[in-house]
This record gives sequence, structure tokens and C-alpha cells, in this order.
Amino acid sequence: MKLSLDTADLEEIREAARWGVLRGVTTNPSTIAKAQSDFLPLVKEICSLVEGDVSVETTTNDSDLLVAQGREIAQIADNAVVKIAMTANGLAAVRRLSDEGIKVNVTLTFTPAQGILAAEAGAYIVSPFLGRLDDIATDSMKVLADICDIYAIQGYDTQVLAASLRHPMHVVEAARLGADIATMPFTVFESLVKHPLTDAGFKKFSDDWENARPHLGELLPSMQEA
Ligand code: E4P
Repeated sequence: MKLSLDTADLEEIREAARWGVLRGVTTNPSTIAKAQSDFLPLVKEICSLVEGDVSVETTTNDSDLLVAQGREIAQIADNAVVKIAMTANGLAAVRRLSDEGIKVNVTLTFTPAQGILAAEAGAYIVSPFLGRLDDIATDSMKVLADICDIYAIQGYDTQVLAASLRHPMHVVEAARLGADIATMPFTVFESLVKHPLTDAGFKKFSDDWENARPHLGELLPSMQEA
């Protein structure tokens, strides 16, 4: 499962990219607004920092305008993916853009039925929003599992991107159920790496090493500096 950041914050993207496990970025109008930067230079910079797909959201529900925006977003960079909301007009635009070979991420997806529509329209990615389903007491993991199962049974190529993730177990469950991509805020990304036993274990090993070091004789050259 590819790990993706859901942010437009350049520092967060740089830091996650440094770890060597970042495979994409998703943005939306809310994260773009939060970044408080000029839109086009910001999106270009994000695309240059990430090797994988960068989803950039459209800002209308008019099919013709969606197609126009989609064509322009696709021109921003080779890894720019057009994000379109799951509406009837959106689907019409997804069909037209997909037929032109433009990659589309169908966002704001909440049911397996919507997942089927996205795949049938030729979407490159479908994004079920798990956290927002949990917020209204709906079993988001059942929705994700159904979409993954249906796609496998039907042989759809559309990638399933688990979105609106709020904590590490969302990520683990998404991987277990077969999601192709998981996108998350930086706080969740960070929480994947942290464990108190790792910290305690590392401290104990470091202390033991420092105490024993004067008596260990010849070390590797790089160990002299550490
Ligand atoms: C994904 O593409 C969305 O931008 C994102 O996951 C939405 O998350 P939220 O529900 O936390 O806003």
C-alpha cells in the first residue's frame, strides 16, 4: 500500500519525503487554503517534491468547466492527478477526461455504489472517506472492504485510496483490507513511526554502548563519530 500525505504544507511534505516512504500527496481546497500560498507555484513545488501522484482538486460542479480545469491541472506536471467530486456532473467529466487519457481521482466517495460508478467512469483513483463516515457512526471499514472486494471481483483497474484517515489503526486496517493507497495528515504519518518501546529500547542500547565504549577497542571509523 502506497503511503500518501494529505496536506499542502511544504515542510510536512519535505520531512515525509526525507523518510523515503512517501509515494504521493493529496490536496483539497481546505488544505490549499490553509497553506496560504500562491496556488500555482505551490502546486508546482509539491509536484516537484514527490515522485508519486499529486492530487489537485477541481473547484466547480459544471461538467464543461470540470473538463477545462482537469485539462489544465494535468498540464501542471507529469504526476498531477485531477481530483473531481462524486456527483453526476463530476462523473460526466471523469468519463471525458479519462477518455483523453487524463488521470482522475474521484473524491468524496462514501458508498460501494459510488465506488462502482467511479470505476465505470474510468477513474484512475477512487477515494472513500473513512473518518467522515466514522463521524456519522457508519462502519467505514465495511465500506472500504466492499469497494476493495468489488474491484477485485470485477477486475477494475481503478486504485482504491483510503482517505480521511484520523489515526494509525485506520492505516493498518486499510492495508489489511487491500487499499492501494492511504492518504493521511502529517500527524498520522508521524504516529506510524512512533512507539514508546522503540524509544525506551533505543535509549537503553545507547546508554549501554556509551558505557562500554572505552573498553571496546577498535571500532568502525563511522562509530568514532557517533
Ligand atoms: C483526501 O483526498 C481528502 O483530501 C482528505 O483525506 C479529507 O480528509 P478529512 O476528512 O480529514 O478532511
